[in-house]
Amino acid sequence: MKRAVEELIFYQIYPKSFCDSNGDGVGDIQGIISKIDYIKSLGVNAVWLTPFFKSPNVDNGYDISDYKDVQSKIGTLEEVEKMLARFHEKGIKVIFDLVANHTSTKHEWFLQSRKSKDNPYRDYYIWRKTPPNDWQSAFGGSAWEYDKQTDEYYLHSYAVEQADLNWDNPKVREEMQAVVDFWLDKGVDGFRCDVLDQISKDWKNGVNGSGPHLHEYIRQLFGRKKTEGIFTVGECWSANTQNMALFCLPERKELTTAFAFSHLCVDNGRFYPHKPPLDKVCRRIADWQISTQETGVIPTLFFENHDQPRCVSRFGDDEKYRYQSATALGGMLLTHRGVPFLMQGQEIGATNSRCDDIKRFNDVETLNYYQMNEGKISKKDRIEAINFGGRDNARYLMPWTEKPQKSWIAPYSRQAEINVKTDLQSKNSVLAFYQKLIELRKTQPCLTKGHYKLLALTPRYYVYARTLDNEKMVIVFNFEKESEGLKVEGELLLSNYPSVEKILKPYQIAIYKK
Ligand code: GLC
Repeated sequence: MKRAVEELIFYQIYPKSFCDSNGDGVGDIQGIISKIDYIKSLGVNAVWLTPFFKSPNVDNGYDISDYKDVQSKIGTLEEVEKMLARFHEKGIKVIFDLVANHTSTKHEWFLQSRKSKDNPYRDYYIWRKTPPNDWQSAFGGSAWEYDKQTDEYYLHSYAVEQADLNWDNPKVREEMQAVVDFWLDKGVDGFRCDVLDQISKDWKNGVNGSGPHLHEYIRQLFGRKKTEGIFTVGECWSANTQNMALFCLPERKELTTAFAFSHLCVDNGRFYPHKPPLDKVCRRIADWQISTQETGVIPTLFFENHDQPRCVSRFGDDEKYRYQSATALGGMLLTHRGVPFLMQGQEIGATNSRCDDIKRFNDVETLNYYQMNEGKISKKDRIEAINFGGRDNARYLMPWTEKPQKSWIAPYSRQAEINVKTDLQSKNSVLAFYQKLIELRKTQPCLTKGHYKLLALTPRYYVYARTLDNEKMVIVFNFEKESEGLKVEGELLLSNYPSVEKILKPYQIAIYKK
C-alpha cells in the first residue's frame, strides 16, 4: 500500500459515534467494520480513529487509563486487529490517536505516582510543592491541582482528570515508544499525535509554548528504525509559517505533517458566535499554502474535526445555501495542496446540532465554559455560544438514516432531514459532490502534486491555480454574495451549480482545466 503522502485522503472516525452495531447507544469496532464499504465508496484511502482505548471518558477517550487495551463498550483487541485487516484488504490506511501529553488520573502510572513522593512512578508526572506559575487549563481554571495525599500539586493542561506526563523523564519516553510499537506490531499505519507540541514544557512562555526538548523528544519517538515509513500527523497548535518545517521536513525524522489552526482562529475563538469573514479565512489558507510550498512541507487540509463545530454552520449558510456552502467548502478542501481530512458526517453536509438544555451537553470543555461564565455572560448568550462553537456539534451519532438511535450523547437535531440514507438516494446530494471531488483529486495529478498559486482574493471571492508541467487548473470560490466580472477560460470540470454564468452565485465553486 505504498502511496505518496500527497495522495492520501483521510476520513476521521469518532468511534463512539460512528456506528453502533449492538444497539447499546455507543458506536463500536464491529460497527466500523460494517461501514468499511461505505467509507471505501467515498473514495478516501486512509482513516484516522480518535481514541478507543480504556478510559473513564471524562474527555471522551483523551483521558487514557490503558494505552494497550480497548474500551469494553467499543470492542476488543481481536476486533481491532480484524478491523485493521479489513481496512487493509480495501487498500485503506489506518492511523490511531496517540495521546502522549497526558494520561487519565486513573492510569496505573498515576495511581502509583500519587501514592508517595518516593514511589518509582512519582517522576512520571509533574509534581510541585507550590504552583510555580499561573498556567491555566485549556478547559478553564488553574492547571495545577492540589493533591492531599502528598501535599503537592500536579500539572494538568486539560481536565483535572488528565495529568500531564513528565517527558523529561527518560522512562516516560520509553513507555511511549512501547505504546507506539505495540500498535505498529498490530498493523496500524501511523498516528495522529494529540497536542504533541506540549510534551516538552516551556516554563517561560506558558502551557501552550513548545519547550526546549520538543524536537528531540519527537525524534526519539518517530526517528527510529521501527517507525520508518509510518504516517504521523501532529496536532500542533504552536505550528506557524516559520516553524512548520522544523516539525515536518523529512530529513528531520519527526512528523509527516501537522495540523495547524490559523485558519480556524480568525475570530475570538469558537465560543464567539459570529461567522468569520471568508476572505480572512481564505487569506490564512493562502498564506499557509504559500509558506509550506516554499519550505517543501506538505500541510494538512481540514475544516472540521471532533473539536470543531461543523464547517457548513461556521463558515457557510446551513439553511438556505446548505448544499452550496457545504459543497464549496468541500471543493476548497480537495483542491488545495496538502493532505485532506474529512470529519465523519462532513461528507453529507452535516450541520451543528441545536440544543437549548445545558443538561443535555456532554463535552467537558462545553460544560466548564458554561459553568465558569455564570454571572459573567447571560444564560442565553452562553447557550448561543455553545451551539455555535461547542465540541458536541461534531460528536453526535452519525446520522445513517432519518431515525434517531439510542445514543450516549444528545441526538442530532436535524437528523430527519440530513442523513446518509437521504444523500445516497440523490445524485445531487452533498455526498455525491464529495465523491466527485475525491475522484477528481485522484485523477488529476496537478491537484495533488501541482504548484499552488494565489490569483485573486477579494471580500467577495477567492481564485487560485494548481499547475503541474503543462497542466493547469483554476478554482474559483465565490463567497456568500453574488459577484460579477470574473471570467475564467477553460473547460469547466465541476461546479456546485448547473452552470457558471456571468454572475457567480452564492457559495458557487467552479473548477476549470486550462
Ligand atoms: C486534543 C484533542 C481534544 C482533547 C485534548 C486533550 O486537542 O483533539 O479532543 O480534549 O487534546 O487531550
